[in-house]
Amino acid sequence: MGTISGSRGLDLNIGMTGIFITATGTDIGKTYVACQLLKWDQAHWRVFTACKPVISGWPTHESEIYKTDSALLLAANQLPITAETLDRMSPWRFHLPLTPDMAARREGKNIVPEALLSYCQQLIEEAKQASKAVLIEGAGGIMAPISGKFTALDWITQLESPCILIAGSYLGTLSHTLTAVEVLQMKNVNILAIVVNETLNSTVSLQETCECLQSFLPYPIIAWPYSKQTEGVNKAVSTLYNSLLQSITNTTLLQSAYESIIA
Ligand SMILES: Nc1ncnc2c1ncn2[C@@H]1O[C@H](COP(=O)(O)OP(=O)(O)O)[C@@H](O)[C@H]1O
Ligand SMILES: [Mg+2]
Repeated sequence: MGTISGSRGLDLNIGMTGIFITATGTDIGKTYVACQLLKWDQAHWRVFTACKPVISGWPTHESEIYKTDSALLLAANQLPITAETLDRMSPWRFHLPLTPDMAARREGKNIVPEALLSYCQQLIEEAKQASKAVLIEGAGGIMAPISGKFTALDWITQLESPCILIAGSYLGTLSHTLTAVEVLQMKNVNILAIVVNETLNSTVSLQETCECLQSFLPYPIIAWPYSKQTEGVNKAVSTLYNSLLQSITNTTLLQSAYESIIA
């Protein structure tokens, strides 16, 4: 696998320039975690861009657009929110708050998987040329139908992208997360990290959930507290960021250099 020079001199692993962000379900925290990652990155290596190719629940009033995943991701990446940037970030937009397949069908439209894949491949290629890595936020959970029987899992598999899996910390998440991991493994998807994003008012401990998952799984498991307290969030985002940097760069030497800079 070849190498390229990163945006601030990082030696990037070409096979890692597209990273899929998926989750065990919808509303689990894909956009939230991606935005925190992008904001952190803006203050560090500026190596990530993002896209949210398929989005449903798109507002009918322009005044609401700033709340969409697409706008949040653009803002976190310090990009302007314009018709052009939104078109590039999210070409497949549907108004109904349903799974993309249902929303598209109700609007008399159809997502062509080949077009979606080639759009993502194009972004990955462009990221590669710019010595960056692109975060691709999926839609809904890991097996959300995108178009007919083409699911988010098919999307990840056919792109051959590694992924970050976001899970919650609610009662029941262990089975959901282990099931999601099992299907990702069956399809040989490279799991870079699992983020356990704390579920508000959960009766289950975040720490214990992470420990239990770690006892089953060989991947980095990152506990992400639901909190505006910067300390807990900073620890989680820096752990995830460092873990991703280690995956997308070719040497751990660069990583140690990076850690000594931010220490
Ligand atoms: N760790 C967290 N701390 C605070 N708010 C969060 C956290 N994770 C998610 N949220 C909020 O929960 C809601 C759902 O998260 P979101 O990232 O939009 O989910 P997804 O992209 O998986 O559908 C959003 O309003 C988001 O801001
Ligand atoms: Mg989202």
